[in-house]
Amino acid sequence: MMEQRFDFLVVGSGIAGLTFALKVARAGRSVCILTKKDRAESNTNYAQGGIAAVTSERDDFERHVTDTTLAGDGLCDEDVVRAIVSGAPDRIDELIQLGVDFTRLEDGRHSLGKEGGHTKRRVLHVKDVTGKAIEEALLDGIAKQGVTVLEHYFVVDLITSAKLRRRDIAVAGSDDQLLGLYALNVRSGEVETFRARSLVMATGGVGRVYQYTTNPSIATGDGVAMAFRAGVEVMNMEFVQFHPTTLYTKTDDRFLITEAVRGEGAVLRNESGETFMHKYHEQADLAPRDVVARAIDQEMKRSGAPHVWLDASPVGADHFPERFPHVYNTCLGHDIDATKDFIPVVPAAHYLCGGVRTAIDSSTSLPGLYACGEVACTGLHGANRLASNSLLEAVVMADMGAVAALEYLEKVDEEEIDLPEWMDGDLSDSDERVVLTHNLDELKRALWDYVGIVRTTKRLERARARIGNLAREINEYYWYAKVDVTLLELRNLVQVADLIVDCALRRKESRGLHYTLDYPDQLESAENTMATPIFSPEK
Ligand code: FAD
Ligand code: SIN
Repeated sequence: MMEQRFDFLVVGSGIAGLTFALKVARAGRSVCILTKKDRAESNTNYAQGGIAAVTSERDDFERHVTDTTLAGDGLCDEDVVRAIVSGAPDRIDELIQLGVDFTRLEDGRHSLGKEGGHTKRRVLHVKDVTGKAIEEALLDGIAKQGVTVLEHYFVVDLITSAKLRRRDIAVAGSDDQLLGLYALNVRSGEVETFRARSLVMATGGVGRVYQYTTNPSIATGDGVAMAFRAGVEVMNMEFVQFHPTTLYTKTDDRFLITEAVRGEGAVLRNESGETFMHKYHEQADLAPRDVVARAIDQEMKRSGAPHVWLDASPVGADHFPERFPHVYNTCLGHDIDATKDFIPVVPAAHYLCGGVRTAIDSSTSLPGLYACGEVACTGLHGANRLASNSLLEAVVMADMGAVAALEYLEKVDEEEIDLPEWMDGDLSDSDERVVLTHNLDELKRALWDYVGIVRTTKRLERARARIGNLAREINEYYWYAKVDVTLLELRNLVQVADLIVDCALRRKESRGLHYTLDYPDQLESAENTMATPIFSPEK
């Protein structure tokens, strides 16, 4: 099959990938976005609370920096925090120019939401559907710019010079370099080859490795897994953020109840109807997320109740439906009138603070490979992300990433070697396919039970043993199988699970989102955790 060639390949069509693509396309470069489902399907599309940015004269950058670093529990990179926070106003202006109509107050000023850990109102939002508004505006921009978007293309693996040399294919020089990628055309079932000198990984998060998550089905950690298999540095994977308030139902679905509801006055109550957050933190219901999620976990364990309550009555019966129409209507669909009834809520896996190690300009340890958005780890979030800082990080780093990647393209020579075609297996045994589904269920349960909000070394080791068994089974099968989405996602999820547990076992302290009963105290110096492979198979 003919290979396709572009200046830039962008993997993923959320806020990070689309922002990057728009910028390099505007610079006159050819760019192709590959995305594994419909183009709008992304974590971005579901973002509710908004995007944090200092836009009011009552706020200032230093406060946003301090709030971010306090939430990050000593592990943030302050230079990165400062650069991202101060890059916000320009990026917000750009989003507005693209057509994002942030909600305004009657006097014309932007309405600013408040969320956990923020000491000021600074979250711009489009009611409670901010992500959808941003996604639509960016997709519109991409369409106007004529960028190629290939939907239902599942990127399988990167092609790098080091990987080719390992297969005895001669590549000039001795350094490693990005050369292209393999992608499964989901509709045809064929794996196609794409060549480019530069690629941006913008594949989002890993929520789907847990049984209960706010994340849509695309969040299977493909980018982290692919980068790791290509030898790229990955770090801080133990810091998985659990969102404190998702709607409790008897199914596995976990609909997010935005933290901005607490910003407007809602309070958490335990099984007996008592407020409790004041016992855990001075900021009470608006404490940083790790604190609130742990407090809820503790209250649920103490009472044995399957959830706690969110009392949104202080928000006001008129204000709630107007400010949070999406949350209000979804709750009504579950026979809950959020203006009167307490909402049953539980924590669920939400956001990956670690990921592919990058500089603030999205560059990774592999020349030609850039990563931005949730897949990346810049050092902004440290051990716990401040609410609504992720959309911000994605736009700022995609902007800087585009500049850096355009410069890279100017100086790097095209490798004129033949890229080998993908060698697919022919095994498509339906019995084995059923086993894959069982394996996925087992993996998600193991992560939920053993690698959750409160950890112990014993539980982490149990998880490691199970992940090891699953990895062996899946990788054996992978060699002979004809690849499909289920197999590829499972393989990536197992890889990501392994990285989370590997990093969690290395951290001999409790910090931010990593809380372990075996090491409840914090070490004096805060260090990042660099992942090292336990197994790193390749086809
Ligand atoms: P995504 O938006 O997740 O996009 C990833 C893209 O990669 C998708 O298009 C996906 O299909 C594609 N992809 C993945 N793997 C492959 C593959 N193998 N091949 C091809 N394509 C692939 N953050 C905030 O700052 N404020 C909020 O209010 C907020 N609310 C949130 C609410 C919810 C319910 C959730 C789930 C998250 C929320 N977050 C919020 C977090 C934030 O939405 C995400 O961190 C951010 O949108 C990530 O953007 P991204 O571009 O990195 O990834
Ligand atoms: C929310 O709206 O509570 C989610 C915000 C975020 O994840 O940053």
